[in-house]
Amino acid sequence: MKQPPAAETGTGSQDGTGAGTAAPTAVENAAGTAARPAAAGPAAEGAGGAAAGSVIVTRGLTKRFRGGQPAVDGLDLTVPAGSVFGFLGPNGSGKTTTIRMLMGLIRPTSGSARVLGAPMPGAARRVLPQVGALIEGPALYGFLSGRDNLRRLDAADPDADPRTRDARIAAALERVGLAAAGSKKARAYSLGMKQRLGLAAALLRPRRLLVLDEPTNGLDPQGMREIRALVREVADGGTTVFLSSHLLDEIEQVCTHAAVMARGRLVVQGPVAELAAGARGRLSVTTPDTADAARVLREHGVTNLVVTGGRVTGEPPAGPPGPAGAFDPADLNAALVRDGVRVRGFGLERASLEDAFVALTGEGFDVAG
Ligand SMILES: Nc1ncnc2c1ncn2[C@@H]1O[C@H](COP(=O)(O)OP(=O)(O)OP(=O)(O)O)[C@@H](O)[C@H]1O
Ligand SMILES: [Mg+2]
Repeated sequence: MKQPPAAETGTGSQDGTGAGTAAPTAVENAAGTAARPAAAGPAAEGAGGAAAGSVIVTRGLTKRFRGGQPAVDGLDLTVPAGSVFGFLGPNGSGKTTTIRMLMGLIRPTSGSARVLGAPMPGAARRVLPQVGALIEGPALYGFLSGRDNLRRLDAADPDADPRTRDARIAAALERVGLAAAGSKKARAYSLGMKQRLGLAAALLRPRRLLVLDEPTNGLDPQGMREIRALVREVADGGTTVFLSSHLLDEIEQVCTHAAVMARGRLVVQGPVAELAAGARGRLSVTTPDTADAARVLREHGVTNLVVTGGRVTGEPPAGPPGPAGAFDPADLNAALVRDGVRVRGFGLERASLEDAFVALTGEGFDVAG
């Protein structure tokens, strides 16, 4: 891809936005309790120009639909250039509403949004040609083939050279795995195929930013893998990718950064590795003697015990594990064996984003907003 990664810094972005350097910043969660101290760092002044710009910056972004609770409430989002940014939240948490404001499709009730350094929706005409977007299913003409839908969209782009149109369309169909189905009418496409065609439309020309609302909706596992590979490839070419999902797994697999929404409010944002590291992993014991194992673990300070057929999991005491840490897994294991528990498996599971979400909100991730 020819163009360099975007490098603007939106005004008002004083918090750490350097890709990979910003600590996760937690904000008050929906219940109004402080989740984690906000890490206000001087990272933006970055050493040796290492701090990259931000391609999306929102400040106090709020949308209140008539008569309701705010769908998006005081959102401060900072998306570093070059990141694959996961916008995560349960159904109804405000993801699509935020994306629609970012793309200038709806006006915020209050607050501001800058995309590629320019205010939205004011600068939409200038900004949007540099942004590929796929929002809640693409608008397609069912009576046209997939290829002809792309041809129509390409022809509507004043900057697209008609002489290279066919090659561009063929490449886009190839990229999303629709080369063989390009001649089929769009109304005969499955949901997943429509989703792919929408992606092909977003990728018709090089973009500085790709915004995808639930890009793997309706795809089978193989399709999801392909989309993830595509997202990585696009990001490797220097395009920042902002994608929403309610699938934590998906975000963990493909994103460098993430923001978590709950009930219209930002719970936390930052590099994915740091978000997950903020949550403690769970201790897991595989044993036929689950009741005894649970008792011993409880006596050793393990909390939130969950017993499922042949396995007991729980939260270890706070602090780092190990001989010098708050608890020693070896001691725990010895205590289990001493009490006659037949330990068939023992381990500390890596904390996931889901653990982080639960730790921050006190809710399961599947709770609707
Ligand atoms: N046009 C609208 N009019 C009224 N309320 C709306 C409108 N659009 C969204 N909402 C409400 O705003 C809230 C957030 O919705 P939004 O679609 O942004 O959530 P989401 O995070 O994208 O959810 P999902 O994961 O289901 O796509 C919901 O309570 C929804 O009912
Ligand atoms: Mg949505």
